[in-house]
Amino acid sequence: MTGSEQAPTFDIDRPEFWELCYQQGRTPWEYGRHAPPLETFMKSPYRLPPGKVAVLGCGTGHDAVYLARMGYEVTGIDFAPTAIQSTYQKFLQAGVAGKSAFLLQRDIFDLHEYTGYFDGIFEHTCFCSIDPAHRRRYMFSTRDLLKKGGKFLAIWWIGERHGEGLPFSVSRDEIFELYDGVFSFDIVYEPQDSFPQDQGKELLTLMTRL
Ligand SMILES: C[S@@+](CC[C@H](N)C(=O)[O-])C[C@H]1O[C@@H](n2cnc3c(N)ncnc32)[C@H](O)[C@@H]1O
Repeated sequence: MTGSEQAPTFDIDRPEFWELCYQQGRTPWEYGRHAPPLETFMKSPYRLPPGKVAVLGCGTGHDAVYLARMGYEVTGIDFAPTAIQSTYQKFLQAGVAGKSAFLLQRDIFDLHEYTGYFDGIFEHTCFCSIDPAHRRRYMFSTRDLLKKGGKFLAIWWIGERHGEGLPFSVSRDEIFELYDGVFSFDIVYEPQDSFPQDQGKELLTLMTRL
């Protein structure tokens, strides 16, 4: 994702903001395929254990359908209707819709009935879309959605900061500070196969909920 495209400047906490981005084709995060570092990681011995996996801010669903095709029970979560519809089409085409792949058109901060439901969470460019003032809240959401011992696989945006704008960058130290004591860190590395514009700007972590 680059900061070169200007998104509409209203409330990023609201689905309307994101929906307008989709409607207007202002989606610089959209590369038309799942994230290569996700595939590399999931082909490694450290891949997520089998089970229920939530994909936060799933967007148009490339990563979610990839995980569903790998045999996980996937729940794509996004509050933008176009993102959900697009993910649903991919689930249908893959023959997994309603069988092993589900969707929630919801705010990730408002999923209280799913407390302790998931064995795993995957995140890619959702956290960097959230107002930094909500980062602690985001951390607690990931904690609450996971079972104890559940895994959180994240690809963070550690690229250059664009002032107050999207995408909101985070540093390695900030991630450790935020999650310390609530999750343990299993694996941390900078992927070598990010999308070309994101090369050197991402950090992959695998954590376990304590
Ligand atoms: C930058 S896009 C990334 C989409 C996808 N993860 C990808 O990599 O292609 C961020 C997505 O998060 C969604 N989003 C942002 N804040 C959200 C929230 N609080 N609850 C649910 N979805 C949210 C937006 O609607 C958008 O689809």
